[in-house]
Amino acid sequence: MVRANKRDILNIGSVLNDSTRPLKERFRALFTLRNIGGATAIDQIHACFKDQSALLKHELAYCLGQMKDPAAISILTSVLEDLSQEPMVRHEAGEALGAIGEPTVIPLLEKYSKDPVPEVAETCDLALSRLRWLESNSNADGSQNNPYMTIDPAPAAEITDVRVLRKILLDQSETLFNRYRAMFSLRNLNTLESILTLVEGLKTGSALFKHEVAFVLGQLQEEASVPGLRASLENTDENEMVRHECAEALGSIATPECYEILNKYLNDSKRVVRESCIIALDMCEYENSAEFQYADTLAKLPCTA
Ligand SMILES: [Fe+2]
Ligand SMILES: [Fe+2]
Ligand SMILES: [Fe+2]
Repeated sequence: MVRANKRDILNIGSVLNDSTRPLKERFRALFTLRNIGGATAIDQIHACFKDQSALLKHELAYCLGQMKDPAAISILTSVLEDLSQEPMVRHEAGEALGAIGEPTVIPLLEKYSKDPVPEVAETCDLALSRLRWLESNSNADGSQNNPYMTIDPAPAAEITDVRVLRKILLDQSETLFNRYRAMFSLRNLNTLESILTLVEGLKTGSALFKHEVAFVLGQLQEEASVPGLRASLENTDENEMVRHECAEALGSIATPECYEILNKYLNDSKRVVRESCIIALDMCEYENSAEFQYADTLAKLPCTA
């Protein structure tokens, strides 16, 4: 947590909530509030759910989950229940409820695991599996060998054989929870072979599954995944949530090729893709900046949802 007084937090909150400010400034304000934490920061994040940007709102939900503060449960519950919120935003609210890890939300997640929107239903089903897993593994916090400091939607599998993990990852008859567990184990292995296996996952499964693979590849920040991420971003038939996550992953890899690809999609027909490219280009700049070397109050930008 970062120390800040109430007036500073309100000032940062006013940047987040000002729709006339550039999106990248608002994202940076959000990451700062996430790092500060506490009731005032949560109130400021809450106020922003009335915004027009699905990208920004899904990030609000993600940050509330990663803050792991039960004070956010009622906010996330109302976002999940609000059918006027975009599927991507409701999905992230469901995932955040799983990340906070309180078993009191089990009945709510059970209800929305039958939601007609597949991304929402699958997310709530995964969150339920995570909560049940935590209940039966009471000495674990679900973060086994996770060097990324994020709360993942599933604990990494204990298996470390890439061929076995590949089989589970790409098997569409496996449960989503087990496929996610294989995904996080492949991420934690962090070898060329495990990364190329994850890239194969970008083509195999639901939109939710593929977007999570892209997210994980963004955490890994390895150039070997650029061709796969590029192909999915360039495929305009691909689900926009997947394309969004590929854009942000390219932003965190931040090679000259990534800049070039992202600049090409700044005018995409899908708002969430255009905005993701804006944020991804800001991430590229951040990754390559002196600020990245020295900053301690800013969150590391690649940790987007
Ligand atoms: Fe996302
Ligand atoms: Fe997420
Ligand atoms: Fe997501």
